Amino acid sequence: MSLKLSDKKLAVLGAGKLGGILLRAYLKQGLFVSSRVTATVKHAERAAALAKELAVRVTNDNREAVRGADIILLTVKPQAVAEVLQEIAPEINAQTLLISVAASVPTTYLEQQLAAASGGKHNKVAVVRAMPNTPAAVGCGMTAICQGTHAGTGHLEIARSMFDAVGLTIVLDEKHMDAVTGLSASGPAFAYIILESLAEAGVKVGLPRDVATLLAAQTMKGSASVVLETGDHPALLKDAVTTPAGCTIDGILELEEGKLRVTLIKAVVKATHRAGELIFEK
Ligand SMILES: NC(=O)c1ccc[n+]([C@@H]2O[C@H](COP(=O)([O-])OP(=O)(O)OC[C@H]3O[C@@H](n4cnc5c(N)ncnc54)[C@H](OP(=O)(O)O)[C@@H]3O)[C@@H](O)[C@H]2O)c1
Repeated sequence: MSLKLSDKKLAVLGAGKLGGILLRAYLKQGLFVSSRVTATVKHAERAAALAKELAVRVTNDNREAVRGADIILLTVKPQAVAEVLQEIAPEINAQTLLISVAASVPTTYLEQQLAAASGGKHNKVAVVRAMPNTPAAVGCGMTAICQGTHAGTGHLEIARSMFDAVGLTIVLDEKHMDAVTGLSASGPAFAYIILESLAEAGVKVGLPRDVATLLAAQTMKGSASVVLETGDHPALLKDAVTTPAGCTIDGILELEEGKLRVTLIKAVVKATHRAGELIFEK
């Protein structure tokens, strides 16, 4: 399959929060051409609203949406994956690339479901599993991808270019995907809570709320940028801010007493464990 995406027919199945973010970015950047894009959602009124907003075809019919599609981007909830694969299996062909962002759903499961639903006909479908995050909405996403049994380097490169369009992409072994879910996919929620708390603290010490939020957000963005750009260890960078007998060390003492580190570690561990469970739920 060639890498030129604007020639490809794309079906986005389940264009909700994440699917909508990706679809909006692809259309805005011209990565895919709107006339070759179809999206699906569950509810008819959502379909109508999305079609109006994005000027692409939006339907409730997954089977119809994937007819002739080169790339299927599966963005439904993990619990809806099996049902949707059943529906679309008759329309898959040997060239179709399936990219799934569903948390908890392994590539082997996707491959087996498609093979079973097609009576064994489609037992070599190219599957890529991806785990993006919502900062993709501003081109600052973090996505990990891994390849299924029948996906080749070309398929992985197509998936990579689709996620590079909304941020950074890393290729990982599939055994890490639940950990990625717990860290970088759930991570924005954890980061927003920290950011909100810093802003609240700013209000407590007398700053107007909008100023406090700006200071907190730009401080987190700046700190993250330094780590990404220098590659320096965060502890080293923290030491550079911490003047002996200064004010930062007093703040750090409070963080240690409040067990911020262990709380964050436990949050990611819990989210990772939960990521392994979703597929078993109805
Ligand atoms: N949100 C994140 O931060 C994030 C990050 C990484 C991965 N993910 C993964 O992305 C997937 C979607 O998450 P989300 O947060 O975007 O959820 P969401 O907003 O609830 O989106 C799910 C979409 O699927 C549609 N849908 C439900 N059943 C369907 C069906 N049978 N056929 C076609 N469409 C159907 C829904 O339609 P209606 O709009 O009509 O209800 C909705 O638009 C999940 O698998 C999740 O694990 C999410």
